[in-house]
Amino acid sequence: TDGLNIRAVAAGKQYFGSATDNGELSNSAYLSGLSNTADFGQITPGNSMKWDSIEPSRGSFSYSGGDTIQQLAVKNGQKLRCHTLVWHSQLPNWVSNGGFDNATLISVMKNHITNEMTHYKGKCFHWDVVNEALNEDGTFRSSVFYNTIGPAFIPIAFATAASVDPDAKLYYNDYNTENAGSKSTGAQNIVKLIKQYGAKIDGVGFQSHFIVGSTPSQSAQVSNMNAFVSLGVEVAITELDIRTNTPATSSAVAQQAKDYAATIGACKAVAKCVGVTIWDYTDKYSWIPGVFSGQGSALPWDDNLNKKTDIYNAILNAWGSA
Ligand code: G3I
Repeated sequence: TDGLNIRAVAAGKQYFGSATDNGELSNSAYLSGLSNTADFGQITPGNSMKWDSIEPSRGSFSYSGGDTIQQLAVKNGQKLRCHTLVWHSQLPNWVSNGGFDNATLISVMKNHITNEMTHYKGKCFHWDVVNEALNEDGTFRSSVFYNTIGPAFIPIAFATAASVDPDAKLYYNDYNTENAGSKSTGAQNIVKLIKQYGAKIDGVGFQSHFIVGSTPSQSAQVSNMNAFVSLGVEVAITELDIRTNTPATSSAVAQQAKDYAATIGACKAVAKCVGVTIWDYTDKYSWIPGVFSGQGSALPWDDNLNKKTDIYNAILNAWGSA
């Protein structure tokens, strides 16, 4: 047999994987595609491990959605990337508008991380500890965490995470950091900040929500990844999709195949790039059309769960032979 994950592993990577979400799992054709480990050696919950799902009210933890996906990974023999502990979005009102002072918000954040990571201890091989803390210009994004605690919320989150599950690889995850520039520099500064504080960070995730025709080149992605690797972290492509106007034209699809190959080729070329995750595998369940009207067609399987041969083969070939 052959597949996206088989080729990634043959290229020396730990996995090729996909995001998924609980509602989709009732579609049996979808579920069987997701569970095919020739293609997917890793899954990531798209929503059900976020703060609003896990701790919708203070001190009240609800793990059923996350557990379903964690148990599916075990059943399938897939790795699990856990996503995400501290993020300004999908954050319940009791946190974002709670009016907590510095010390209280630190304790709320530590309690959330400790409870969730204890629940999933030993089950998550990666954790996205902090997600999207930066503005486009590389400065810190305004959020309840930054505005109340300051930049220290990041190293505090990582130190807490490391103390709970020392075996999980701890990641900072963001978008528009896949190319050299202010935001990438900001993310490198976050790695340095965490280390200066004496806390542990193991990896940086590049979400890679790209657009057909303006995906960074393979060499640009490689040199950007290497700038992070030089700081002593591994890297991963964590949420890859490459969108276009719908319906996709044949020339857009031809360019999209090149853009996928550039990104896979970049991960292949960097020894410390451990794997690639696509942000779900079928257009049927992509987040894009709901957010970018008139755009989509971003994934290797179409709305009817049919494999797009051109895109699929471009990924296979970019990994190289099995
Ligand atoms: O669960 C409710 C449902 O009960 C309700 O009927 C429905 C009506 O809108 O909404 C459902 O919640 C939606 C949720 O996805 C589950 O489907 C939210 O509205 C919707 O906003 C949410 O979108 C998610 C988005 O994060 C939120 O920011 C996407 O599925 C998810 O793919 C997306 O993932 C993010 C990563 O976590 C971080 N990087 C960017 C990426 C894409 O935005």
